[in-house]
Amino acid sequence: MVKLGVNIDHIATLRQARLGEVPDPVNAAAAVQRAGAHGITVHLREDRRHIQDHDVLRLKKSLKIKLNLEMSIAPAIVNFACKVKPEAVCLVPEKRMELTTEGGLDVAGERAKIAKAVRQLKNAGISVSLFIDPTARQIEASRAVGADCVELHTGTYAAAKGSAQKGQLRKLLIAAEFARRLKLILNAGHGLDYKNVKPVAKIEGMNELNIGFSIVARSLFVGIEKAVKEMKILIR
Ligand code: PXP
Repeated sequence: MVKLGVNIDHIATLRQARLGEVPDPVNAAAAVQRAGAHGITVHLREDRRHIQDHDVLRLKKSLKIKLNLEMSIAPAIVNFACKVKPEAVCLVPEKRMELTTEGGLDVAGERAKIAKAVRQLKNAGISVSLFIDPTARQIEASRAVGADCVELHTGTYAAAKGSAQKGQLRKLLIAAEFARRLKLILNAGHGLDYKNVKPVAKIEGMNELNIGFSIVARSLFVGIEKAVKEMKILIR
């Protein structure tokens, strides 16, 4: 069964719009947990635009399901993760001005720096995933730097239309097969929604999908538990 990790960053985006206490992402995480998600994902960005350090600490204390911390390889953030010890981290590239994570991590181009962060996190007992574009070069490099898992970037697939989307799906299928062959745990995410998720959920060996924006957006109309349950049915 494909697992669902729900990214709740944008509950915190709404809270930060007024710099107040509501809506509280920790309460949202409890509802997501009740709805049967397998994990909660949050991205602690260096600019702290949504999730704050105290959110991560409170989630770590309160969650019964897996906490997956998305983060850059900035030393201060890596040190923070090693103290908090979420079950998993997913390393992502981070640019200050971007609206959301743009491309995948250039593992092949920055092997030494990424290998160092992976080693430090794994020594702290944390499972490490790398968010990468679906290419053989990045998958091979992910294996070489000691990652446990790759999260294939589905953003280009999600943004493509018609036959172009089929082409992007083919790239994901080929990358997934290569990752499986290298014995990497296979996750995927970014831009997935209620319309485009099924073909990605059907990829052989898919372990977990990380989905945020579409679930949070739908939750405004149907409530977060229903929004999560609907997505669970689609990826089952
Ligand atoms: N996976 C990673 C690595 C991400 O950076 C994001 C966005 O924070 C997601 C999954 C979720 O993407 P979306 O919010 O578009 O579902």
